[in-house]
Amino acid sequence: MLTHLIEFIARLHMVVLHFPIALIVCAALVETTRLLWFRCTRRSIADHFRPSNAASVMFAFAFASTIVAITTGLILGYDYGQSADLHRILGLLSGALILITAIALLIALRKSTFKSSIVYLALLCPSAGAVCATGHFGGDLTHGKGFLTNPLKQIINPTPDPQSDPQSDPQIQALNLTAESIEIYNTIIQPIFDNSCIKCHGKRKQKADLRLDSLVFTLDPELNIIERGSPDDSELIYLIELPADDEEIMPPQDEADPLTQDQIQSIRNWIQSLI
Ligand code: HEC
Repeated sequence: MLTHLIEFIARLHMVVLHFPIALIVCAALVETTRLLWFRCTRRSIADHFRPSNAASVMFAFAFASTIVAITTGLILGYDYGQSADLHRILGLLSGALILITAIALLIALRKSTFKSSIVYLALLCPSAGAVCATGHFGGDLTHGKGFLTNPLKQIINPTPDPQSDPQSDPQIQALNLTAESIEIYNTIIQPIFDNSCIKCHGKRKQKADLRLDSLVFTLDPELNIIERGSPDDSELIYLIELPADDEEIMPPQDEADPLTQDQIQSIRNWIQSLI
């Protein structure tokens, strides 16, 4: 039960992470647009530059949600293997920057001097930039590298997209599969692996040097876990069909639920159909 609870807390990262991004960007926008009206106000400079109440409240919520996002993110990252990737480093750096900005905000609110306010405002915009960059690299992790920018690259330099036309990918062509087998893999088999296996056999962790996050890896002849056309001789089928309490079953017994009969049958049918 505890592992499920931790998993739930870790996955909250995917929800909470949006708060610091939106709130800090909003706080920075509110402050900068307000400052642009400088000429229209008749207040003293120190008064004018004093952090606004609305943006300060936004920043306070942003600060709190940053702490939650970092904590849940670290737990989630731990589950996927401790690689010091760009997303994690940027997340921690953003956290440090936001902490410094929070201290600057407290000082600015307290002292209300021009200098202290400027220090805060000068830190707020880089903080917003840092969380946006962190979010961008996090997006690359969940959606794949270039998820956001690839369509733009296609506009500038159109090339066939292997995702929309898998048969144009030379590595997939080399596997010599029918269009139907590729389609079934992408729509039925890969989602099963995504759900139950890639945590340990994916981009970030490769237990037994095995990756199951794409067709090319799954059918890698060197690993030989799938005997094309013969599910009964495939190591992968052997491992997923073991009794639930067997030490060798995949996914390992304490880590995830065994695959359902329907899922196993789909994988069997797919392997059977491979020529
Ligand atoms: C919690 C981590 C974890 C999950 C989830 C997991 N595996 Fe594994 N897998 C391992 C480990 C660890 C090994 C190495 C076991 C050994 O060598 O005794 C392994 C080995 C394997 C092997 C043998 C590879 C070889 O070259 O001998 C296959 C096949 C396999 N897993 C398939 C799967 C499939 C299919 C799923 C999902 C249904 C899955 N695994 C889910 C951790 C995991």
